[in-house]
Amino acid sequence: MNTMDMDDSLIALVYNQEEEIARGESQDLIALQYTTKTAQSIYEALQRLGYPTVMVPVKNDLDSFARDLGQFSPRNTFVFSICDGFAGDNFSASLIPKLLRELGFKHTGSRAEAVRLCTDKARAKQRLVKQGVPTPAYQIFSKPKGTISLPFPAIVKPVHEDASIGIDEKSVVTNPSDMFQRVDYVVTEYSQPALVEEYITGREFSASMWGNGTMEVMPITEHDFSAINDPLKSLLTYESKWIEDSFTYNEFRVICPADINRNEEKAIKTTAVNAFRAMGLRDFGRVDMRYRDGVPYVIDINEIPDLSPDAGFANSAQKAGYPYDKMVDRILNLALHREGWK
Ligand SMILES: Nc1ncnc2c1ncn2[C@@H]1O[C@H](COP(=O)(O)OP(=O)(O)O)[C@@H](O)[C@H]1O
Ligand SMILES: [Mg+2]
Repeated sequence: MNTMDMDDSLIALVYNQEEEIARGESQDLIALQYTTKTAQSIYEALQRLGYPTVMVPVKNDLDSFARDLGQFSPRNTFVFSICDGFAGDNFSASLIPKLLRELGFKHTGSRAEAVRLCTDKARAKQRLVKQGVPTPAYQIFSKPKGTISLPFPAIVKPVHEDASIGIDEKSVVTNPSDMFQRVDYVVTEYSQPALVEEYITGREFSASMWGNGTMEVMPITEHDFSAINDPLKSLLTYESKWIEDSFTYNEFRVICPADINRNEEKAIKTTAVNAFRAMGLRDFGRVDMRYRDGVPYVIDINEIPDLSPDAGFANSAQKAGYPYDKMVDRILNLALHREGWK
């Protein structure tokens, strides 16, 4: 049971309800629409926990969302947001906490500035470098030409996407010609610059964590690619995350808790917390790393990780003693306490 004063308080569950892609591949819609399913799971958990909850979807434009939310008062309505962009655009995610602040609503998760940083991989990496957090060497290309100052193999990623959108086996390149071809694909299909990074062959770990001030890093997840022998194909492509009848979707596994020794665990957890703090995140997050020669290289910081019951964060929370409803309750309560609502 929650202890929030239930007399007139309300939780507004904010999420993006996607209808079409704005760019990229038509199959990208599967990932975009998944947020609606996750919202349904969180809604049901909040109901079971006894919180009066309304769902307020963000559809195609901010104005109608502001109008819908305007039916509620920031005085008694606390926002639980899993909105990770809208209208097919991941990079627009920061407009939600920005608008919530303007309207006076308190909410779960990070501020607009931190969200903007995390949804811009170029700026995120700048920040990591500045704060001394290990991250693979990189360059940004807005067109398919220029001087390359990176070692191969490299990986080419859209700078503003998540959920492995724009990432397939051709993203990993071993020569300049293939690299520029892939940069061209990203720039043309996804209408944004390409981030080219040194490709770290090695184990991949995800650290799900929560807290404010003192952070709790939950049991570490390893992505097990042993079904494939080729290190250049051992990565989480879009297909491996979303295309249910694909080989990699079915054969890549997660191992949680990961089989790591104390030193590895310490290095991974410390790096994850450092990355979380470097971005200025609040309440919860997930940091993805590739591990080589004792160094966890941060490749991705998720300010709103996938919170669906079958995703990594919930799996890790479950191992930490928080089954799904308790996980949802804890995220909400971290935010309520931070805002002095409880
Ligand atoms: N520098 C890298 N070295 C090795 N693998 C990488 C690197 N960058 C990304 N990957 C692989 O690609 C996947 C998706 O990349 P990521 O940066 O996490 O994008 P997204 O934000 O779409 O999740 C990672 O989970 C990892 O398997
Ligand atoms: Mg990632």
